[in-house]
Amino acid sequence: MRSLMVGLLAAALGAGAAWGEFVGHGGPVKGLAVSADGAEMVSTSFDYSTIRWSLRDGSALSVLYGHDAAVNAVAWLPGGKGFVTGSDDGSLAIWTAGAEKPSARLNGHAGRVSAVAVSPDGKLAASAAWDRTVRLWDLTTGKPLRTLEGHKDNVNAVAFTPDGATLASAGYDGALKLWRVADGTPLRDVVPGGAPINGLALSPDGTRAATAGADGKVRVWELGAEKPALPLATLAPVPLLSVAWGADGRTIAAAGIDGAATVWRLPDAAVLYRLGGDRGPIWSLAFTPDSRTLLAGGNDRMIRQWSLETGRELDAPTPVRTVAADVQPGGDPVGERLWKRCSACHTLTPDGGHRAGPTLYGVMGRKIGTAPGYPYSDALKNGSIVWDEATISDLFDRGPDKVTPGTKMPVQTIPNAQERAALVAYIRRATSAP
Ligand code: HEC
Repeated sequence: MRSLMVGLLAAALGAGAAWGEFVGHGGPVKGLAVSADGAEMVSTSFDYSTIRWSLRDGSALSVLYGHDAAVNAVAWLPGGKGFVTGSDDGSLAIWTAGAEKPSARLNGHAGRVSAVAVSPDGKLAASAAWDRTVRLWDLTTGKPLRTLEGHKDNVNAVAFTPDGATLASAGYDGALKLWRVADGTPLRDVVPGGAPINGLALSPDGTRAATAGADGKVRVWELGAEKPALPLATLAPVPLLSVAWGADGRTIAAAGIDGAATVWRLPDAAVLYRLGGDRGPIWSLAFTPDSRTLLAGGNDRMIRQWSLETGRELDAPTPVRTVAADVQPGGDPVGERLWKRCSACHTLTPDGGHRAGPTLYGVMGRKIGTAPGYPYSDALKNGSIVWDEATISDLFDRGPDKVTPGTKMPVQTIPNAQERAALVAYIRRATSAP
């Protein structure tokens, strides 16, 4: 009976298809990485933030600010101990799992850091940047190790081979280069130059590389031998931005400006799926470790996921941990699910505290900008709104930028009036004293 109700509600709100989304970023999602155990994902965005998500229940675990500009890339440290991010501000940041601020910032690049990689033993980071260099960093000391020069244009991608001995890099000059990690010696140009390369992924055995080209083509190259490339079926000739290689060794996905993700199955390189395609460019891709799910970071601020068993966009898994133990039987699954869009930045309970945004505990009847201890923008400090169902609904009908001009809250709207009603009802229930 319950599931019938949920189904009817979903159909009534037309929201079913959207429930697999991870919503939290205020700008395009440029970097995505899934932890080796598949439990967590980290995403990075134009909005300067890095968000840690639980892949078990779809909730946002923390919103992290450590860069002074768009964050383009992220790579996990081994064992889920933390991760490394790279930014338009030209720096890398090292994050320890659970910390709110980076443990170190690595400076040296004279341009945007477009890609980062971590060596399999976790001792080194590599970065590709728009100063035409690739750099190696010692993660134990936080010091630069060497600068690898040779690319003739901005470098967009970098990856370690699984033995950690070789580094691959690629960029706008169309070159795919290999370097010896131990001393930085250039080993070989797998491709001396061609169409600009935006993305690079190595096969899990380290013998091949897949490149995503600005010419809309994905090519697979043999790293060891002077062998010709295995071309994958050409997509629409629009620039590709990202490519990923599944840990199963036989699944490759690429996506780009037209917003469609194409998935191939090796060895015959047949197209398995063409996914999405109607919601703007896809900037980033990642597989779960079992290669059964593909995650995609969109220009529209969303992260979506598809099952590679069915080719269908996934609903969010049932939350095992809700924000408050407040969803009564026959309660409000719509409001609860919509709340996920907010939970990256807000809590609802007395002990939840502030995140990127102020706690919404007690928000109903509270004057704007008055939660104690939260550093509000002047826009909210000087506002006169009193929050209730109607004013919060209006906030997401017209959008925070219109209702509270100058606010720090990222622009987001919920166009559907019934969804807004479900969300504010949920907030009312979750934030009132029992
Ligand atoms: C990426 C972070 C983020 C997300 C996601 C987010 N918010 Fe916010 N929110 C903020 C920040 C930051 C502020 C404080 C803005 C300021 O001081 O200008 C804020 C302020 C607010 C306020 C005003 C609070 C007060 O004390 O005056 C309300 C209400 C609110 N958010 C509701 C929501 C709801 C509902 C959602 C989900 C639909 C949501 N927010 C999603 C970051 C976020």
